[in-house]
Amino acid sequence: VKREGLGGAVGLCHLFLRLAVHPGDTVIDATCGNGHDTLFLAGLVGCAGKVWAFDVQSAALDATRLRLAEAGCPERVNLVNISHEKMGEIVPCRVRAVVFNLGFLPGSEDESRTCSKSTISALEQAAGLLLPGGVIVAAVYTGHEGGAEEASAVDGWASGLAPGRYNTWRAKQLNRSEQAPYVVIVEKSLKKL
Ligand SMILES: C[S@@+](CC[C@H](N)C(=O)[O-])C[C@H]1O[C@@H](n2cnc3c(N)ncnc32)[C@H](O)[C@@H]1O
Repeated sequence: VKREGLGGAVGLCHLFLRLAVHPGDTVIDATCGNGHDTLFLAGLVGCAGKVWAFDVQSAALDATRLRLAEAGCPERVNLVNISHEKMGEIVPCRVRAVVFNLGFLPGSEDESRTCSKSTISALEQAAGLLLPGGVIVAAVYTGHEGGAEEASAVDGWASGLAPGRYNTWRAKQLNRSEQAPYVVIVEKSLKKL
């Protein structure tokens, strides 16, 4: 999997995913969109691994399906056309990582975007599905309508996780505008308490 730079929130998310995810792992893309993160995860888990990719827009799943077919690895991914709020019912095993790229699908006429209530429910389920040492990485946007409220809900949720059971971080690029996306990282502790 080609290494990219840290020019934005997605690059930082991918750096943490590289650290946590190994061939053969099961992982989740909670917002597959155009499939960039899904394909990245498919590369990390390899042919023995599995990616569960969720999106509420069928156009997003179509774009992801095409991207995976072009890359020659569609069999590594289960595409699910349903809200990520259902991931706890659908994914049958513990996972090494869950990625959220919040907001809306760039270039789409559909207005579907993530929102606080379903995002927090999905984050809660993602935390429950994590293996010890597993990570949630979320690219969080504040610039669009509803973005600031969602960002504040995500920060509040991550701040409230029990220290010792989870390590939570927020990473913001200092030399970008206030509106630039930032990254929230949640690691499930390796230690059993
Ligand atoms: C910023 S885009 C994701 C970009 C994507 N990760 C990529 O690599 O192209 C956000 C996506 O979240 C999806 N979305 C919005 N609400 C959702 C929900 N409740 N469950 C799953 N996906 C949702 C949107 O349809 C949109 O495709």
